[in-house]
Amino acid sequence: MSAANKAPAGAGADGQLRVGVIGAGVMGSNHARVLAGLPGVTLVGVAEPLAANRTRVTNMADCPTFATVDELLDAGVDAVTIAAPTHLHRDVSLACIARKTHVLVEKPIATTGKEGHEIVAAARNAGVTLMVGHVERFNPAVAAIKQAIKGEEILSIGITRVGPFPPRMSNVGVVIDLAVHDIDLIRWFTESDIVDVQPQLASAVAEREDIALLQFRTASGVLAHINTNWLTPFKARNVTVATRQKYLQGDLLTRQVTECFGFQPDGSYSMRHLPVGHDEPLRAELQAFLHAVRNGSVPAVTGEEGVASLEIAIKCLDAPAGAVAAPHHPGPRAVAS
Ligand SMILES: NC(=O)c1ccc[n+]([C@@H]2O[C@H](COP(=O)([O-])OP(=O)(O)OC[C@H]3O[C@@H](n4cnc5c(N)ncnc54)[C@H](O)[C@@H]3O)[C@@H](O)[C@H]2O)c1
Repeated sequence: MSAANKAPAGAGADGQLRVGVIGAGVMGSNHARVLAGLPGVTLVGVAEPLAANRTRVTNMADCPTFATVDELLDAGVDAVTIAAPTHLHRDVSLACIARKTHVLVEKPIATTGKEGHEIVAAARNAGVTLMVGHVERFNPAVAAIKQAIKGEEILSIGITRVGPFPPRMSNVGVVIDLAVHDIDLIRWFTESDIVDVQPQLASAVAEREDIALLQFRTASGVLAHINTNWLTPFKARNVTVATRQKYLQGDLLTRQVTECFGFQPDGSYSMRHLPVGHDEPLRAELQAFLHAVRNGSVPAVTGEEGVASLEIAIKCLDAPAGAVAAPHHPGPRAVAS
C-alpha cells in the first residue's frame, strides 16, 4: 500500500495527534520544543537513554521523558520523530513501524542504502507514513528559489555549505553529514535523478573526509556542484541556480534571495530581491509531516527520496576518485614563495 492510499492516522476523539520524539540530543530537543508548541499535537514524551539529556529536554519542552523507545511506544503514540544517532535509525524505525506508528526519521535516513530500503519497505507494508527530515527544503530561502525556477530550464546549480568542525565529532564525514542536504536539494530543484558523480575528497584534520568537492550530472542534463567542508571558521550556506532566463543567488542563513533576469545582448540585465518567508524550517517540516499523517497523503520528503540521496552520497565515497587523501600529507603543502 502506498502512503497515498493508506488510512489516515487515528487522531483521538479530541482531534489531537499523539506524537513522541526519540533522541534528546541537539536535533531531538528542537523537535520536542517545536512539537510542544504545535496546535493539534499532544507531545506524549521523549525517549532518551541519557539522564542528563532527559533533564535538558524536560526543561526545554516541559514534557514527560522515557528511558527507552518501548516505554514511549507503550504510552501510546500515533507518530514519532526519530532523532537518535544515524546508526540506530534502521532499528528504531523498524520497531516503531512494527507498532503501526507513523515515522519522521532525521536525515540521513540510515547508514546504508540497504537499511534505508528496509525502512521504506516496512513502512509501505505497514501502511504508515514515512518522511525523512531533509529540513533544508523547508528553509524559506530554498522555497523561494524553488518557486522562482518553476517552469525554467535549469542549466547548473552550485551549492556551498561550509563551516567549522562540529563540537562533537560524529563517525561520519562531511559527505554523509552535510552534502546529503544538498544532494537532496539538487534532486528536488531539478526533479531529476543524479546519474553521474565526480567526487574529490580529502581529510585534512579529521579521520573521515572533511573537504569535499562534488560534481554531478542529472538525468535531465543539469550540471551541479557542492563545495562542503569543516575547515571554514564561519558557517556559509549559499545556492546559485542558472537557468536559461534567470540567475538566482540565495543565502540560506540570511535568507536573502536575488534574481537576475532580462538578459540583454549588450550584457545588461535586471535584478531584484525575491520575497522570502519567515517560517522556522523545522516547524514547517514537522507540520508537513503531521499533515501527511492526518490526511494519509504522500509526505513532502518520501523515504524513497531519502534513500536516493543517501545512495548518491555513498556513491561519492565509493567512487575511485572519491578515495580520501591521507590525513597527514607527507610532503610540504605550503606554496613556495
Ligand atoms: N536535519 C538536520 O539539519 C540535522 C542536523 C543535525 C542532526 N541531524 C540528524 O539528527 C540525528 C541526531 O543528530 P544530533 O546531532 O541530534 O545527535 P546527538 O548526538 O546530539 O543526539 C542523539 C541523541 O540520541 C540519544 N540516543 C542514543 N541512543 C538512543 C536510543 N536507543 N533511543 C533514543 N535515543 C537515543 C543520545 O543519547 C543523544 O541524546 C542524526 O541522524 C543526524 O544526522 C539532522
